[in-house]
This record gives sequence, C-alpha cells and structure tokens, in this order.
Amino acid sequence: MRTQVAIIGGGPAGLLLGQLLHCYGIDNVIFERKDRDYILGRIRAGVLEQGTVGLLDEVGVSARLHHDGLVHHGIELAFGGARHRIDMARATGKTVTVYGQTEVTRDLMDARLAAGLTTVYNADNVSLHDFDSEQPCIRYEKDGTTHEVVCDFIAGCDGFHGVSRQSVKPDALTTFERVYPFGWLGLLSETPPVSPELIYTNHERGFALCSMRSLHRSRYYLQCTLDDDVNNWPDEKFWDELKRRLDPQAAATLITGPSIEKSIAPLRSFVAEPMRFGRLFLAGDAAHIVPPTGAKGLNLAASDVHYLSVALREFYAEKSAAGIDDYSRRALARVWKAERFSWWMTSMMHRFPGTDEFSSRIQRAELAYLIDSDAAKTSLSENYVGLPY
Ligand code: APR
Ligand code: PHB
Repeated sequence: MRTQVAIIGGGPAGLLLGQLLHCYGIDNVIFERKDRDYILGRIRAGVLEQGTVGLLDEVGVSARLHHDGLVHHGIELAFGGARHRIDMARATGKTVTVYGQTEVTRDLMDARLAAGLTTVYNADNVSLHDFDSEQPCIRYEKDGTTHEVVCDFIAGCDGFHGVSRQSVKPDALTTFERVYPFGWLGLLSETPPVSPELIYTNHERGFALCSMRSLHRSRYYLQCTLDDDVNNWPDEKFWDELKRRLDPQAAATLITGPSIEKSIAPLRSFVAEPMRFGRLFLAGDAAHIVPPTGAKGLNLAASDVHYLSVALREFYAEKSAAGIDDYSRRALARVWKAERFSWWMTSMMHRFPGTDEFSSRIQRAELAYLIDSDAAKTSLSENYVGLPY
C-alpha cells in the first residue's frame, strides 16, 4: 500500500487531521490499534473552543454539533460558599460549545466512512521506519499478516501511550512534566444539569466540577486521592460528597440518579519537544497532556492538526517546506500557553495535600482578585474560550 500521509491513531486528532487533509486533496490512511466501538466507549471532556468548532465547520462535520451542542457564554467559579459568574462572551465576544468529545469522534468517523477514506482498525504492532529519509514507511500486523505502507509523511496522533513518540531516538527529545498529587473521580448520569453553566468549585474538602453533556445528561467530578478506587464510591456516597462541596443553592437543587459511568483519572502536565522529527510529526496527546481543569485537551489537538494540515497543503500545493519546517515552533507556542492556563486553573481550584498556610492565603487572594478585577476575568475568559491561531 502507498499513501501520502500515514496517520497513526484514530482518536480525535487523527480523525480531524484526516478530514482536513482530505479537504485539501491529500490522500491519507489511518492506522488504529483498537476498534471503533472501543474508541467510542471512552468518555472525555466536552467543551469546544470556537476555533475547534470552526475547524469542524470547515470539514463539514458540524451539523449535529450545531443542533445538539449547548452554546455557553460564561462559567461559574464557586468558593467560600458563594458562586461568581465569569461572563466570557462579554469579556471576549466569544463562546464555547458544550458537546461531548465522544460525539465529535463519532461525527468524524461517520464523515470519514462517507468519504470512502481508509481506516485500518485493529492494526497490531505498528512500527515507524525511515522518517529521517524522504520515503518513510510503517509496518503493522493484522490477522496474522505483516503489511508495509510507504508514505511521504507520518503523523503520530496516537496519544500519550502511543508508539510514535517512542520511535524517536531518546536524545532527540526533551520532555517536561508535572504530576499533580490528586485525581478526578468522574460520574456520568442521565439527570438534568444542576445549573445551565459549568460550575468549578474550590472547597475545603477538595475541588468539584459540575458539567454536562446535554440538558438531560450531566457529568460531575470530585477531586480524589491518587490511590482512590471507583469501588470506594457507590453512587450515594458520590452524590453526598458532591452536595457537601457545592454552594447551598446548588446542593439543594441537585438532581441525582444512577451513574452510567464512573472513573478516576490522574492529572498531569506533559510536553515533548520538538514536535517534528524529519518526516514524522507528533500531534495531540502524543506530544502533550494537560490536566482537564481548563478543558484544553481536544482543543489543543485541534490547533495542532490545523497547523499541520496547512503546512502539508503548502508542501503539496506550493512545493514549499516553510510550513512543515515551522510546524513544531508554531504548535508549541500555543501548546505552552494552554499548558500555563491549565496549570494555573488547576493550582487555583484544587486543595493540595500538605500545603502551608501561606499558599492557602495566596490561593484565596488569587480567587478574590479574579472576581474583583475585570482585567483578571478577561484574562481567564480569553484563555478559556481559546487563544487565537
Ligand atoms: N498504534 C495505533 N494506534 C494507537 C497506538 C499504536 N501503537 N497507540 C495508541 N493508538 C491509538 C489509541 O487507541 C487512540 O485511539 O491512538 C489514539 C489516540 O487517541 P487519543 O488518546 O484520544 O489522543 P488524541 O487523538 O491526541 O486526542 C486528544 O482527545 O482523547 C482526547 O485526552 C485526549 O483530550 C485529548 C484529545
Ligand atoms: C467535562 O464535561 O467532562 C469537562 C468539562 C470541563 C472541564 C473538564 C471536563 O474543564
């Protein structure tokens, strides 16, 4: 088999890249280790920046999103028993759209199928070769047979645990990491959201987040310890703990119900530099991870693949390597700003075990400053709705 761009990983980054390249007339094949249902079974965040929505519009994959997605003009921050609204639309003129990442993935998969583009699911032992030459290739196994695919470029969109980043010589890569001393316990339920907008809560018992997937499906999170286990959290206990952390009005109006899904995720910041190695490019979680507090994971993957697709279009249409030469620098400039924002939101909203009184007072002052200052609110807002690209 031969293709112009071999895309490793069929998550949101790989799928969106595939659609963008297809729109630019660039042939691509996706190689994915799992199957479609497995990928659609993963529950991830659900807040889309306007730029991400714009890219989905560009590839013609946004009809359901515009129909079912909820446009949010603000968020609420809760601390000290009270809620404070940040009007992001007033501060920036922009909004975010609440629409589950699982649905974005499903829409992209359907569009890929409808366009007749090839996705190889259940591709085992994918390996990357010769990306320091002009003719890279990948090999994979399927149904007991080894296949080889020759290509012009490889896009490593295979997430944090993928093979692409691991295929690079260790001394060609610098990594930066912060592991936070807590996790998020998430619960999905078929219940109406407690409030029309997201509520991020800093409480002495720990962080809590009220989010949603639709007007009848809610997603809630509680800060938990790293060694915690979902089996320690029967639904009743989860709801009781959530009510304790919410402000009195939210606690009184919260509608509870049986959980559809419950899981614990650790929080991590991670960046690998650079994001290009000859004819191999990394994009999305393969290159960077953010803690979920700013809902930037999918949005960063979207800006990466935007930069990459434009660079590849320039390469094929204009015979110019300027875009691919600049890909890593451009992508990382935006990545680090989102890393900063996600780290800052995480630091401001969580309770850190063993923290000292000075740090607690600084955190309290940070929150007080935020609600007193229009400049601070604008700063949060412009990051939350997404920095330009
Ligand atoms: N070979 C082929 N595919 C692989 C391999 C491999 N060796 N390793 C991983 N994959 C696949 C995974 O099965 C997964 O479907 O790559 C895909 C990577 O998808 P994500 O982890 O979702 O990463 P990405 O597409 O960059 O998404 C960015 O979306 O999924 C969220 O948390 C993620 O919010 C982040 C954003
Ligand atoms: C979610 O809905 O899952 C969600 C929303 C906002 C976040 C993180 C997760 O910051």
